[in-house]
Amino acid sequence: MHWSSLCVIMGRAMNSRVASLSQQYTSALQDYLDSQQEILLQQAYDLGRIAIAGRLGLLDIAQIHQRALLECLLPACSMEEKQRVLQASETFFLEALSPFEATHRGFRDANLRLQQLNETLECRGAELTAINYDLHELSNRILHVQEDERKRLSRELHDQVGQALTVLKWNLGLLLRSGEVDATLLKQKLADSQTLLEETMDLVHRFAIELRPAMLDELGLLPALRSYLKALAQRTLLQVRFHGSAAAEQLRSEQKIVLFRVAQESLTNVVKHAQASQVKVALHTLKHVVQMQIRDNGQGFSVDTKVPGRRRKHLGLLGMQERVRLVNGQFAVTSAPGQGTTVCVEIPFRSRPEVQAR
Ligand SMILES: Nc1ncnc2c1ncn2[C@@H]1O[C@H](COP(=O)(O)OP(=O)(O)O)[C@@H](O)[C@H]1O
Ligand SMILES: [Mg+2]
Repeated sequence: MHWSSLCVIMGRAMNSRVASLSQQYTSALQDYLDSQQEILLQQAYDLGRIAIAGRLGLLDIAQIHQRALLECLLPACSMEEKQRVLQASETFFLEALSPFEATHRGFRDANLRLQQLNETLECRGAELTAINYDLHELSNRILHVQEDERKRLSRELHDQVGQALTVLKWNLGLLLRSGEVDATLLKQKLADSQTLLEETMDLVHRFAIELRPAMLDELGLLPALRSYLKALAQRTLLQVRFHGSAAAEQLRSEQKIVLFRVAQESLTNVVKHAQASQVKVALHTLKHVVQMQIRDNGQGFSVDTKVPGRRRKHLGLLGMQERVRLVNGQFAVTSAPGQGTTVCVEIPFRSRPEVQAR
């Protein structure tokens, strides 16, 4: 259908609505002016609502009122009567307008709410963008940290193990040509080689543990931790104390690796940052969780500025927190300058049906 014909049809429909409302309005106004009963004002209110429902505007209702008033205001009546009619019709008119007022108020409120919702959405949008950015940055950093770690291990393997093996090879060559060397030098070289071999074995053992503590799978969490702590105490001046509850072995293997990695990272932090003389590692079994605490007596730090800040350079604390979160655990660091540091992790026991059944 052509647009202009549509407009004509809609216009006619509107005019017929105005005409029918106009008649109702005039007779209702007339009723009210005759008796001026409060109850008749309800009709004005209802007519206002009908006008809104029929999509009539304020100008339409004003026009309807104007026409009705002209009809009701008989030219023959006295000045006093005219005044009374004008006053009463004003009351009637205001009552007819009140649904418009209510609707406008509703619009205003809805608009305000929409505005507030929009603002909240904008905030959420900005937060999501920031979180996305952080995640992107975090995965980038994790990749870098992994790559750096591989570089470090490869360099240490090359430098330390490579060097030791070169010296051993050189010593062995000397032994092969033993006819040319005196016995004391020979003995000396043998002893050197033995020490070197022992050191290299330790080193390789340490690398193996750092890469993936095989002990963890074969012997369990507590022996793996004990062995790691023993090696740590040997290569640092730290006095290390350990308490482990055997029930910790009931955790799933991915939970145990989380505890092991948290211990590793926390203890590396103790060595790197704490300047501590003592560290205690304790695993306790509470009702539904295994709790691990790593407490040092070092210089401590101000936690607020380090955990879990966005766009930080340090990933150790954040990484621990993430690992623990992935196995539904709780992670907390308590520290203050001059007061040592405590890392506390709680990991819930598995709830496998066969375990519960026993
Ligand atoms: N046991 C600790 N004693 C003192 N300071 C610590 C300890 N653990 C962490 N910190 C502080 O928290 C910071 C963040 O640690 P972390 O996230 O592991 O990063 P990184 O070890 O790479 O610096 C460290 O740089 C250090 O200042
Ligand atoms: Mg660290």
